[in-house]
Amino acid sequence: MNRPVLAANWKMNNGPTTAREFMQSFLDQYPRQNDRTILIFPPALSFSVVAAAIGERRDILLGVQDVHWEDQGAFTGQLSVPMARDAGARVVLVGHSERRHVFGETDDDVALKCAAVERGGLTPLLCVGERLDERDAGNASGVVVSQLRAGLSRMTQLATREVMVAYEPVWAIGTGRNATPEDASAMHSVIRNELASLCGDRARVTPILYGGSVNSGNARSLLGAPEVDGLLVGGASLDPGSWLAIVRG
Ligand code: PGA
Repeated sequence: MNRPVLAANWKMNNGPTTAREFMQSFLDQYPRQNDRTILIFPPALSFSVVAAAIGERRDILLGVQDVHWEDQGAFTGQLSVPMARDAGARVVLVGHSERRHVFGETDDDVALKCAAVERGGLTPLLCVGERLDERDAGNASGVVVSQLRAGLSRMTQLATREVMVAYEPVWAIGTGRNATPEDASAMHSVIRNELASLCGDRARVTPILYGGSVNSGNARSLLGAPEVDGLLVGGASLDPGSWLAIVRG
């Protein structure tokens, strides 16, 4: 397995005050570990607080939850890749299920964003995943492969640049119903094979994370499943105790 990546997606939680308290408690109990990478995606307003708390620690990277594909301009409410980089972000979450299904983001929007992230020198963490009706219809792999191909379609340096992928079945996100390690493994293999056809040898070292109702009870078995290189955690990353248990696991 690649060096595990454990990612916390705080979504619209943890404003600056809570974020500061969280980081104090987390960092006090989590000394530097070089055998795994921790990634935190705070909401934009808490980004600088979390960056200041992390300081010089290189085992914890920061990311933003979404970006616009333009570098600047009249796009009220949006963040750009150059701004994210300037603030200290290394990774950008792109095409998260909530962006796709709550805010109507299309595959082409996702592709434009991945290309902007590549252009700006950051790493995209591209999220893909099928809905329950798509899985029930036997089309889970078809949906995931098509989201993957579309999302990466505008990137021009796939063979050399770092990309991360998260498999997050929509029916598992925030529902308490995680994919089994076997199901996650099977889909990660599909993703890895597809990546091999898109970016050759880099596919082997591309981190593929599983996300969807990960908690301190199931993290170890999911992370131990073949082809699972990391975890993308929503709800369980908001409590310092359960997040600590997951990253220490
Ligand atoms: P969850 O969210 O862990 O709360 O299911 C995961 C995600 O949306 O990234």
